[in-house]
Amino acid sequence: MERSQGEAKEPPNREGIAAIARCYQGFDPAMYLRYNYTPPRADFTRTDSIVPWKLACLHQAFTEGDMTGETLVDVGSGPTLYQVLSGCEVFGRVVLTDFLEANRRELQRWLAGEQGSFDWTPYLQHVCQLEGRSPSAWREKAARLRSVVTEVLPIDVHQPCPLPPGSLPASGADCLVSSFCLESVSPDVASFTAALRRMGSLLRPGGHVLLIGALGESYYMAAPNVRIPVVPLDEAQVCSSLKVSGLSLLRLCVYTLPPDMRVGVDDVSGIFFVKARKP
Ligand code: SAH
Ligand code: ADE
Repeated sequence: MERSQGEAKEPPNREGIAAIARCYQGFDPAMYLRYNYTPPRADFTRTDSIVPWKLACLHQAFTEGDMTGETLVDVGSGPTLYQVLSGCEVFGRVVLTDFLEANRRELQRWLAGEQGSFDWTPYLQHVCQLEGRSPSAWREKAARLRSVVTEVLPIDVHQPCPLPPGSLPASGADCLVSSFCLESVSPDVASFTAALRRMGSLLRPGGHVLLIGALGESYYMAAPNVRIPVVPLDEAQVCSSLKVSGLSLLRLCVYTLPPDMRVGVDDVSGIFFVKARKP
């Protein structure tokens, strides 16, 4: 029988999803931040370092003038804030989300200005520069971010309703951002696609999605002995998952890791950045 486009082709791999959820119980926010958000992967003196590349893509996407509205939702924030540093200037309400309490707590610590929370200052300074401001404007940017983040919510992209009921306006969010989440919580491409489709259901028609993720990655380390399996993706699979999820691709950019960014915490070969729109 012919299936209509967008219909699920396989039953959900519940055991695979549950096995990944068990791996996440060992996720260490501090180690994850050290592996991915310190040099060489976050070296602001280089344009070929991973984090400056991601920040430039996000800056461009948010300053093209087509992303409007009130509510931005970041899906699977983890312990990180870099992914909303540009968006927080455009949207008046930013909702952060994560599956793990430990990550939500780490974000709350920074939002509350607690001593010992991760230092996002060089990130704030860098994005101020992208915005044509002096790096010294970073304190204002930090204050802006703290004022627009209204909540840090639990999320599970494998559930029919990923967020607590009533979290979003009935029409949906105006914008979604998600980085390194869907492929690292999905045992196979079908689960990745199903999660993307569910994420898309949180968006209002006409809203935008910015999706960042790993290409060709089969695992990453979330603590010294915690190896999280990842579904290895290529660009064609990302494009076809977007299509099946009813999202129209506006732009796809690909970053290939220079050899010195391969630091032994994963086997990622590249990174994709997608800007898409829900028709
Ligand atoms: N966005 C951050 C963190 C990505 S790490 C960054 O760009 O670095 C992947 C994140 O997915 C982790 O924070 C993990 O807690 C979260 N996660 C795990 N299972 C999930 C699920 N079922 N639904 C949504 N997020 C999940
Ligand atoms: N940066 C953040 N998460 C990552 C991952 N899973 N792989 C590569 N780079 C990352």
